[in-house]
Amino acid sequence: MRILITGGAGFIGSHTVDQLVVRDHEVVVLDNLDPQVHGNEVKTPANLETHLPARRIEFVRGDVRDRDALCAALQGVEAVVHLAAAVGVGQSMYAPSYYTDVNVGGQGTLLEAMVGDSKRYRRLVVASSMSIYGEGAYRCAVHGDVAPPPRPEAQLGVGQWELVCPSCKRTVEPVLTREDKPLQATSIYAVTKKTQEELALCFGRAYRIPTLALRFFNVYGSRQALSNPYTGVAAIFLSRLKNGKAPLVFEDGKQSRDFIHVSDVARAVVQAVEGEDEVWEACNVCTGRPVTVAQVAAALAERLGLDIAPVLVSRYRAGDIRHCIGDPLRGCQVLEFQAATTFQAGLDELIAWSERQNAVDRVEASFAELERQGLVR
Ligand SMILES: NC(=O)c1ccc[n+]([C@@H]2O[C@H](COP(=O)([O-])OP(=O)(O)OC[C@H]3O[C@@H](n4cnc5c(N)ncnc54)[C@H](O)[C@@H]3O)[C@@H](O)[C@H]2O)c1
Ligand SMILES: [Zn+2]
Repeated sequence: MRILITGGAGFIGSHTVDQLVVRDHEVVVLDNLDPQVHGNEVKTPANLETHLPARRIEFVRGDVRDRDALCAALQGVEAVVHLAAAVGVGQSMYAPSYYTDVNVGGQGTLLEAMVGDSKRYRRLVVASSMSIYGEGAYRCAVHGDVAPPPRPEAQLGVGQWELVCPSCKRTVEPVLTREDKPLQATSIYAVTKKTQEELALCFGRAYRIPTLALRFFNVYGSRQALSNPYTGVAAIFLSRLKNGKAPLVFEDGKQSRDFIHVSDVARAVVQAVEGEDEVWEACNVCTGRPVTVAQVAAALAERLGLDIAPVLVSRYRAGDIRHCIGDPLRGCQVLEFQAATTFQAGLDELIAWSERQNAVDRVEASFAELERQGLVR
């Protein structure tokens, strides 16, 4: 099948391209090689160079907001995987115009470019994100399942990090977050991802193009931009450690996330695009297993043989959530997908790759920027 993959030079995109090529698909990549992700000097995507000589992929350097570039890339394509996006929760808060432009505007332009020949498309897959949930799902010992709103400033101001039940104010326990949990986006980035999901599903239903919005949880692994301080806590911590500095941890480090290895995520995308069911759905791509942020820092330092403990900054960022662990069941039913990589094996893969990388640590500059904008409290 001839497949267009936007953002195919990026972290998740390049791993997806690898798997698609192995499975004998013809792949067209459209990517503008955003300097924040790829650096300033890149002319061809390093991750794809191995495939280019084999002519298994075509690379179009172009912007998802450029209709002509999209129309050219869509020639003969039967399935579209839309991964290109501006990716960065904190950054989106002081660049809302750019984030809505690329993510929402870009998605709109892509759909419009598909309109003319919509019968040709067998599948549309769009990258959504766990960030659209806001807080994950919780359970109160007395009141059962609850979906508390984001923590109020007054609570965070006194360092009370855990969520409480809206009815009885007891501390609640995180439970697996299902797709039907009410969405409570707490960042501009999350709002754009939620909109992207809705745009894709709405368009897909109208034109009868089976469509899947994949809610990726916290993806980590090789090729995540080590010097981009805006995305990927594992890559950010690794970059700090490789520069001999302590990872900076917000709150008390016990906030938890669902870390899924990029090879698993790429496989989920492949399964989504190859599927033949008539589906129009959003589903989680996750492991269902919690890992705390402090555990990420400790596990990386241990594997690198470094005696560097993370610094708990005891501060918090506007819009940060406490816990969100995905329920993998729906993804298992719809995509027949199950994550296979353990967190330990995934970190080993990330570290092995990073040995050959130059990691410039830009964390302090990004922290200062968030502070300047009043987004760290
Ligand atoms: N990494 C995660 O943990 C995570 C979690 C949830 C969702 N996602 C989503 O997955 C997708 C891929 O993310 P990633 O982590 O691989 O990020 P990434 O930054 O590595 O890849 C994004 C790619 O899109 C390209 N791009 C950016 N703006 C573009 C534009 N205007 N036109 C064309 N190309 C453009 C970049 O050059 C880059 O190669 C994104 O849609 C992101 O929102 C990622
Ligand atoms: Zn209660």
